[in-house]
Amino acid sequence: MTVPKITLLAGDGIGPEIISAGRALLDALGPFEFEEALIGGASIDEHGEALTSEVLERCRGADAVLLGAVGGPKWDTTDPDSPRPEQGLLGLRKGLGLYANLRPVRPLAALLDASPLRREVIEGTDLLVVRELTGGIYFGEKERQPEMARDDCVYTRIEIERIARTAFESAQRRAEGGGSARVTSVDKANVLETSRLWREVVSEVAGGYRDVELDHMLVDNAAMQLVASPARFDVIVTENLFGDILSDEAAMLTGSLGMLPSASLGGDGPGVFEPVHGSAPDIAGRGIANPLATFLSIALLLRHGLDRHDDAARVEGSVEAALETGLRTPDLATGADSEREAGSAEITAAVIAAL
Ligand code: IPM
Ligand code: MG
Repeated sequence: MTVPKITLLAGDGIGPEIISAGRALLDALGPFEFEEALIGGASIDEHGEALTSEVLERCRGADAVLLGAVGGPKWDTTDPDSPRPEQGLLGLRKGLGLYANLRPVRPLAALLDASPLRREVIEGTDLLVVRELTGGIYFGEKERQPEMARDDCVYTRIEIERIARTAFESAQRRAEGGGSARVTSVDKANVLETSRLWREVVSEVAGGYRDVELDHMLVDNAAMQLVASPARFDVIVTENLFGDILSDEAAMLTGSLGMLPSASLGGDGPGVFEPVHGSAPDIAGRGIANPLATFLSIALLLRHGLDRHDDAARVEGSVEAALETGLRTPDLATGADSEREAGSAEITAAVIAAL
């Protein structure tokens, strides 16, 4: 058996803490070969850019990439000519051709009261956000002048077709073994030309997936429905910016942004697996960061990156088991008597013990 090679890009803020917790979890599932590299602000400090071509090459050579988070006040700037940590992440996604970003949202039973939404609202929620990740306004031409600025939003038919296929195939897979498959395509077709093309192409692609039900929803309505009746959704497919916004919103259904994992796939090389939350500079270095989104991202790494489905399920089950013992990082605490506040180390140990 060859030992899978995983590149660890810890990044900034709480990134190093959650990635070292992730490494401990992976060690329990080992063996893996790890390689650490810089991204984001950490790379700017060392090399003057957020992602060097050397690090991108090293990622290309790995079987999977596990990423922490990038960014922080130290590098915040509105100067268009200064490097930004986020460029590292965007460059990595583009450089590896990772057009499909999967963000599963499934509130765990133990956390049903940790969400700011009522238990009755979120119960039964099990949805997947499929976010287009390498197109749209994130990657269009940009212009900055003293009195104006411009970001172009461009989508091509091919870009929409392939992400639509990802969504329909994900819906089919989720429905295996019973259940209905449904895709909700989210756009702003009442205003945007890119959205009208999006809607047209997604409808065409749907023709090849007769077993999947398709509906279209405007993004403002989708934002409202996500908190009003999240359980009605199955797979949500949407463009880059809408997906960014809706997935943070959807994360709160799980109790905390600290719970949401993601997988970025689609290239012919490795995928990138990362928690959806950011670098949380305010709590960095205090040992209280929630590593669970990283652990759930490792589950996605095992499932989608290494085809190790049983291990993926074991990790997910262990996260759930650790929460059932009552341990909570501060972001998940509700103050209930059954809870015990824990730091990153303690909850990591509990997850590994449950494995
Ligand atoms: C995310 C993040 C990134 C994004 C930022 C850090 C560039 O918010 O992965 O959702 O906007 O894609
Ligand atoms: Mg985001």
